[in-house]
Parts: sequence; C-alpha cells; structure tokens
Amino acid sequence: MQNLPTPERFPVPTEVPDRLPYHIKKWQKGYESLPQELDYWIDDIEGEIPAELEGTLFRNGPGLLDVNGQRIHHPFDGDGMIARIAFSEGRAHFRNRYVRTQGYVEEQQVGKILYRGVFGTQKPGGWLANAFDVKLKNIANTNVIYWGGKLLALWEAAEPHRLDPNTLETLGKEYLDGVLQNGDAFAAHPRIDPRCDRFGGAPCLVNFAIKPGLSSTIIIYELDLAGKVVQRNSHSVPGFAFIHDFAITPNYCIFFQNPVSFNPVPFLLGFRGAGECVKFQPQQLTRIVVIPRNPQPGEKMQIFETQSGFVFHHANAFEQGDEICIDSICYESFPEVEPESDYREVDFQALSPGKMWRFQLDLKNKTVRRRLLESRCCEFPFVHPEQVGRPYQYLYLGAAHAAQGNAPLQAILKIDLKTDRRQLWSAAPEGYVSEPIFVPRPGGTCEHEGWVLTLVYDSAHHRSDVVILDAAHVDRGPVARLHLKHHIPYGLHGNFTSHCFAPSN
Ligand code: FE2
Repeated sequence: MQNLPTPERFPVPTEVPDRLPYHIKKWQKGYESLPQELDYWIDDIEGEIPAELEGTLFRNGPGLLDVNGQRIHHPFDGDGMIARIAFSEGRAHFRNRYVRTQGYVEEQQVGKILYRGVFGTQKPGGWLANAFDVKLKNIANTNVIYWGGKLLALWEAAEPHRLDPNTLETLGKEYLDGVLQNGDAFAAHPRIDPRCDRFGGAPCLVNFAIKPGLSSTIIIYELDLAGKVVQRNSHSVPGFAFIHDFAITPNYCIFFQNPVSFNPVPFLLGFRGAGECVKFQPQQLTRIVVIPRNPQPGEKMQIFETQSGFVFHHANAFEQGDEICIDSICYESFPEVEPESDYREVDFQALSPGKMWRFQLDLKNKTVRRRLLESRCCEFPFVHPEQVGRPYQYLYLGAAHAAQGNAPLQAILKIDLKTDRRQLWSAAPEGYVSEPIFVPRPGGTCEHEGWVLTLVYDSAHHRSDVVILDAAHVDRGPVARLHLKHHIPYGLHGNFTSHCFAPSN
C-alpha cells in the first residue's frame, strides 16, 4: 500500500527508548491508552463504502494500558473497550465505550490499580501488598458478540457482561437465564454453527468453559438463535488445561490441551500473576480432545496426542470421512510473560512466530498427521461464517509483512486452500493490522464474495483506520479507508452482525 497524505491532528507519543529499532518504536505507539469515549459519523474517508455493506462491526480489546498513569504489566490485563462501527447506506458511524466492570468502575473512581491482573499487573506496594489476594478482575476485554438479541462482552475466566448495542451502556453481568452462576467462566471464543440439524437447520452458538485443576473440567454450552442454553455438557480431562479457543464440526468439539504446567505458589505469595505461573513443557505432547456434541449411546470423548507446540487460535475444523481436520496457529513454545519485562520492548526475533498447521485426526486408527500450511508469521484466522465446521477454501489472517521471521502483524493474508495461492495486502511500513473479519455480501454465492474488515493502526498519524478490502481481491488493497479521529489500542477479537446499530440521524 502507499502512505496516504492525511493531516496530523493528534499528537504522536514520543516517549520510546532510543535503543529500540525504529519499526518497534512505531509499533509501540499503538499501545497508548484511549481513555476517551467518542461518538461520531466518520467523514474522513478514502474510497467508497460498499452500498451493500449494512450492519455493525463490534470489536473488543484493552483500551487502557494504564490506570491514571500507573502502567499495567501486560495488555491482556487492560480494561475492555468496545469499539463499534455501524455501516448504513454507504456511511459509517463510530462509537466506543468501556465495559463498566466492577474493577473498571472502582479503579477509575480512586485513580489507581486495585486489582491484580492475570498477566502480571500487581497492586502498588510490592509482593506484600499482593500476597494471598486471589480475587479476579473480570476485565471483559477479549471478544464481543451479538447473539439472541444480546450484546455480550467476553473474558474467558468469568461471566459475560451484557451491553446495550445502541448505547454500549453496560447492563450488568449475564447469567444466561440462570445457567451460569456467579463467577462462572464462559470462554471468549464462541463458534457459530451455521446449520445445526438438532435446531432444524438453524444456526446455534457453541461455547465452552474451563475449570482447570489437577484434572480439568470442560463444559460445553449450546445456545439457540434466541440465546437460550439448550444443551450443557460437562467433561473431565486429565491434567491441567490452559485452553483459550476451540473448533467445532457438526458432530464434534475439538480442544487442544497445550503441554503446560501450573505452579500457583509465586502467584499466591504475590510475586507473579497467575498467567506468569504457566510454564511450557516442551518434552510433553499436545493432547487433542475430541468431544461429541450430541453423544450417541456408548460414544465417548477421544484423546489424541501429537508433537508439542502451543495453540491459542484455531481457524476451522471439518469432518472428512473417518477424519477430522483442524487448522490451527501453532507456536513452538508458549510466549511466557516475565515479571520484570516490558511488553512494549519485546524482542520479536527471540520468539517463535505463529504458523498455520493442519492436523488430521484418524478417528478409526487413532492417529494424527500434521502438515504446515503457512510458514509466514500469522495470527487471528477468520473464515466465511457459513463454512464454520465445514470444508472450506478461503482463509484470512493477520500476517507479518516479511515472509520469514517473527514480527508485528502488518498485512492481511488470504490463503486459497484449494489452489495454495496467496493474496497479501500489507500496511507496512506505517500500518499495523488487527484481526480480519470476513463479511459475506448479501445474496453472495461464492465463498470469497464479501469484504474483509480490519482496524489498522496508522503509526504515522497515531490514529486508526477502518479498512475495507474486497475479499475476492485482497491484494488490490482497500476499497475504502475510513480515518478515525484517534487511535484504537491494538484489540483482540470482534464480530459483525447484519443488524445496523447506527444512530437514526
Ligand atoms: Fe483469542
């Protein structure tokens, strides 16, 4: 892409250490807090918003990287901020708002950190001030989804927060009609089965919760279109489980039990966050847990083992005869968080990049084959929503600009899994991309008929753009770039709904 000449209206932060490479300094600036809550029609647009693009993109991620100037230790500990971009009749409206979690409200009232974060944020006062404080701050910062008429902000270790999709006002914690109890987990990676036989061919939402321990419990929830929990099954798996995401097919849920151990002592004594006590165990195998969604009499969970690695995210899974295929982003090791480190000064070259792998599980012979699909550093896979759990052709990813090595995500990569062809659009050198979200064109008949939406942090102007790519021609660059009036700190996940939540004027 080319850099677009635009006026510099927001100050560019300059407090970055000189010893860091220039491209890392630029990347760091995307980790400034955005404390403001804004609401406006976007009027600085290059290109044209497709007239058929109607609906709302919701994004979630840590909006605050500090509390009144006290820096948090890791972005994953940052308070959840919802960004909403509503598309209507060729226009787009922006609104952002923080999830009013108990922790956010309390900390903003007193202007200091009151809670320990899972990823190492500590209360001021050293280990003595943190020892034996095990209460969790439900920061609601990982995903947001509109389902069953409810907008839910998700964080995997506690219950969702429900928001008003029009105002983004926080309505309170969501207990799914009493199915969840106070403090129950509900993962941040729900999957929508586009056509479920048990629901008369209607879509359903499948999600899970983990209760980790010496043996761990996986709870699977299935919600109908109205948001009602129609199935809840609980399964016990041996060993500690740190599972962030899963994959579904019409008949199975698939979990990767990463080879890690957990020693809670440094956490309990106030020296480390709980997430900093997770250790990767390279000598152990990864377990792949396959659980039937609607078990027939005698049908049981199956566990496979494969070569070690760490998986946060899966792209998709599908059934093929007696096999299940799962496409996942694998790391050679878990990127451990160190207490004395600064996440903004991460040495990308010292860490293993995420790469795309395909795992083929032979259900009859209990074997696993795996092969590398993509060696470029990549993350945040996304597929056409109608292909979830089914054989599919096109995959969209955030990717590094360079074909080799580990680096910040600056490009959108499209892989054609049938032809093995790639398309790449890069926002380098100034732009840093977020998760690409595929939105089908209404009435489209081809799997790549639609758009890819992504937020791009433009470090040259310290602001973010909403970028719209034609999914069939990702490499041609944006069909529209919507310049926001500010930046949005690097986010995590989001979803698109065809409901339009733009204001009426
Ligand atoms: Fe995730």
